[in-house]
Amino acid sequence: MFASLNDHHGNHALRRSLANVACWSIAGALAAGPASAAVVRPATGPDAPAIFSAESLARTDTLLRKMTVDEKLGQLSQLFQFRKSSKLDGMVREGKLGSVLFVTDPAEINRLQHLAVEGSRFGIPLLFGSDVVHGYRTIFPVPIALAASWDPALVERASAIGAIEARAGGIGWTFAPMVDVARDPRWGRIVEGAGEDPYLNAAMATAQVRGIQGPSLGTPGRLLATVKHFAGYGASEGGRDHDAANLSDAQLQNVYLPPFRAAIRAGAGTIMSAYMDLNDVPATGNRWLLRDVLRGQWGFKGFVVSDNNAVNDLVPHGYASDRRDAALRAFKSGVNMEMASYSNAYATLREAFDQHAIDAAEVDAAVRPILATKFQLGLFEHPYVDEAKARAAVQRAPEYQAEARLAAERSAVLLRNEGNLLPLDPAAYKRIALIGPLADSRQDTLGPWVFAHDLDDTVTIAQGLRTRLGAGQTLDVAPGVQIRRTTPSPFESIFKEKTPPVWDAAHAGEEFEKALAMAGKADLVVLALGEKQDMIGESASRSTLALPGDQQRLMERVVALGKPVVLLLVNGRPLDIGWAHAHVPAILELWYPGAQGGTAAANLLFGAASPGGKLPFTWPRNVGQVPLYYGHNLTQDPSEQDRRYWNEPGSPLFPFGYGLSYSTFKVGELHLSKTRIHAGESIEATAVVENTGPVTADQVVQLYLHQRYGSASRPVRELKGFERVTLRPAEKKTVRFTLGPDELRYWSASAHDWVNEASTFDVWVGTDSRATLTTTFIQQ
Ligand code: BGC
Repeated sequence: MFASLNDHHGNHALRRSLANVACWSIAGALAAGPASAAVVRPATGPDAPAIFSAESLARTDTLLRKMTVDEKLGQLSQLFQFRKSSKLDGMVREGKLGSVLFVTDPAEINRLQHLAVEGSRFGIPLLFGSDVVHGYRTIFPVPIALAASWDPALVERASAIGAIEARAGGIGWTFAPMVDVARDPRWGRIVEGAGEDPYLNAAMATAQVRGIQGPSLGTPGRLLATVKHFAGYGASEGGRDHDAANLSDAQLQNVYLPPFRAAIRAGAGTIMSAYMDLNDVPATGNRWLLRDVLRGQWGFKGFVVSDNNAVNDLVPHGYASDRRDAALRAFKSGVNMEMASYSNAYATLREAFDQHAIDAAEVDAAVRPILATKFQLGLFEHPYVDEAKARAAVQRAPEYQAEARLAAERSAVLLRNEGNLLPLDPAAYKRIALIGPLADSRQDTLGPWVFAHDLDDTVTIAQGLRTRLGAGQTLDVAPGVQIRRTTPSPFESIFKEKTPPVWDAAHAGEEFEKALAMAGKADLVVLALGEKQDMIGESASRSTLALPGDQQRLMERVVALGKPVVLLLVNGRPLDIGWAHAHVPAILELWYPGAQGGTAAANLLFGAASPGGKLPFTWPRNVGQVPLYYGHNLTQDPSEQDRRYWNEPGSPLFPFGYGLSYSTFKVGELHLSKTRIHAGESIEATAVVENTGPVTADQVVQLYLHQRYGSASRPVRELKGFERVTLRPAEKKTVRFTLGPDELRYWSASAHDWVNEASTFDVWVGTDSRATLTTTFIQQ
């Protein structure tokens, strides 16, 4: 959309800001020590940082003293702008809106901002929000893929680039990061978070908040972050999007809340209340969650925004009696701002005020953090977008594309590599067939939640391979099958391209045979299978993990040809690939790799990059096993763990933290600095990792912990540290992890509180959650 525009000054500025990003994030990562340790800190007292300067708070209070109740209440509303409307314009002019969603055209941002600033008595600017989830103009791999990099510094840079592009384009606020722990891959939104583990989610949440907001809220050129969806959304029953979540206090405190707390500790300015019922109380009307936990126990100082229409939705939930009751309950529960794509329930708060259901102090408390945020972001000084700069900022920046390629390479996970088929020997394969519906589909390469990109930036797998192959090598490409949702996605209208081109059912057999014939002529077949962009994300849950459409049959027919086959997976959830695991020699999880995905795929296939990503979730054998996660509790007979079902093993296809490499590694020499400690003390664990193979490659060293006994049962293992290292052949590195009160503390269902108990602890260090290198220590 912006491809024809050119402004060298703009790109120069972007380059400078990227240099800054790289500098401070690397410095930050070094300062933070290995493994982004101590990102999960379930401390016992409120520990959210101050996010507003004294000046922002003083200016807010001065302004509040002058504002009428109507002016204050107006700040509590946010509406979508799908198209220009005189009603919305009127509300802006009268100061009845605090924020507008989904306006991305800089000229329109300025038009509305002029109405707000010139129309209202105090010139209070609007805050423009949009979902900048894995990039703005430059599209990075989807969040689950970025989590698979186990590289928080990379994730911080990716988030920073998205923020820099969006802010230059006039956006002030993004609804990211999503930090919902997801243990059921039927749930489509698993693609938006960091998977099943609270520690990894917390690490990625921290990295994203730092990238989005910069070192502190109000860093010039960055955005306001929203940590979402508070809380428990990932535990919706049956993996059905929006269904109720029923979670014990212990699960909430130990698994689902820690990533939120980590994001808030990192300074996230806003938090979004979730749609669903949490233990029978909808999250958006859940006072315990939004006041007692968030503000009371954690000390959060920013503001709460509801999810879209979640205030109105308290009525269909069977919680509020009508729209007025819904607004009152959400307000009283602690929702500062209502997000609404249609009817704005918070417009009824004036009546509630007149009827003395809410008082002036409550109104001030609700609006104060919203105004303080606007001051802190510098919106009062710089309400408008420089339209020329905005256009320049969303031009293709080669440096950012390079980061996107690196991110795609570092996110990929090698699941299988029999006989070291990968990396491919270019001399051995003259004719390659690339087969599958995801081989050459630009939109699907990007994945869900992309809006401001230019599709022409996207390098598909076919394009990436074509560029990579040398003279004398041929690439044949065919989709073979077409895959489609059986019910349309509610978001279909926003997709920029419908791929692959639709052929009618009568031609399905012909296309299938064409692809097989192509494969039959090739020396090697690369299959690109998985799910389309609209098969995952919001409102995209599935009751099966099977490859959609006729892909399984296509794969079986191709394998039957007897050629070497590489399976590239393009998806955001584990799929049922048991058959492939038994019959396809090489499987590379590429995810939705973003705009540079095709280049990354070609680099990985031919060994210009070595896969080093690790699974951020447990990969089940089939859907009947879910939820399946490594951090489960033990039973009375742990030896029967793998005999839970009589028809097949209870173990997963691939464990959490798993991923192969083109090299081999040895992890050894596990030492603890002490074997006995008192509660409150820390211990250091060290281990040596060595590259024992032929190529420079990455390994993610992971530390797992288990408390043997205590006032509650503890998971068999819990991730408590990790570090991704790059090693040359024969190179060794000592990795260090700290185990202290933050790692040893947990919320006990017996004590109904955080405890740090005397017990024996097992420690494992290795390259996935089945690590066998182990030792123990005692806490007295
Ligand atoms: C989603 C949120 C998103 C919002 C605005 C909702 O449907 O649940 O994650 O931020 O829409 O796009």
